[in-house]
Amino acid sequence: MKQLYTKQYIAQQVARLGIEIDRDYHNKEILMIVVLKGAMMFAADLAREIDRPLSMDFIQVSSYGGQTASSGEITFKKDIETDIYGKDILIVEDIIDTGLTLQILKQHLLKRKPASLKTCTLIDKQKHRCVPIESDYCGITMDDGFIVGYGLDYDELYRNLDAIYTFDPTQQLAQGDA
Ligand code: IMP
Ligand code: MG
Repeated sequence: MKQLYTKQYIAQQVARLGIEIDRDYHNKEILMIVVLKGAMMFAADLAREIDRPLSMDFIQVSSYGGQTASSGEITFKKDIETDIYGKDILIVEDIIDTGLTLQILKQHLLKRKPASLKTCTLIDKQKHRCVPIESDYCGITMDDGFIVGYGLDYDELYRNLDAIYTFDPTQQLAQGDA
């Protein structure tokens, strides 16, 4: 595994996003909708960089399984518990890749008529985008490649690494070797 983004670099980007979000939501209360499980570390850090009244809810979808390419099929595993009608929603996602997950999530939540709906993603992977969607806030832009760490997994492992690594499943190492 090769380290791609250090802990310090990620923290800088998260702090920058916090400042941008603070500025844009100056007199508003934010309801963060965190996309489980990948965005949990990012959301926990981002929430602490936002100096505004903020609440959090969680939604879970799955599209990957034990593979490194998007299956193109998204299943809802857990819905939010909050009534989002009239609220200012910020979806917090780990990665936007093909864009399908974010598109389906946005459609799903917009039906409930929030006052506003924006998205914040830690990583924007641009190469495989197949629907015309961009995130309102983005931490790091990269072209291609599968990555793990800082919440991101391969087959449920490596989420607890504090930096982001490129990952090739054909050369899988024990986590202690990372
Ligand atoms: P999309 O629907 O193709 O945009 O896929 C987005 C989802 O796939 C993200 O929410 C991630 O959970 C997952 N994903 C995409 N690329 C990676 C990666 O490099 N590592 C781990 N998960 C990824
Ligand atoms: Mg995800």
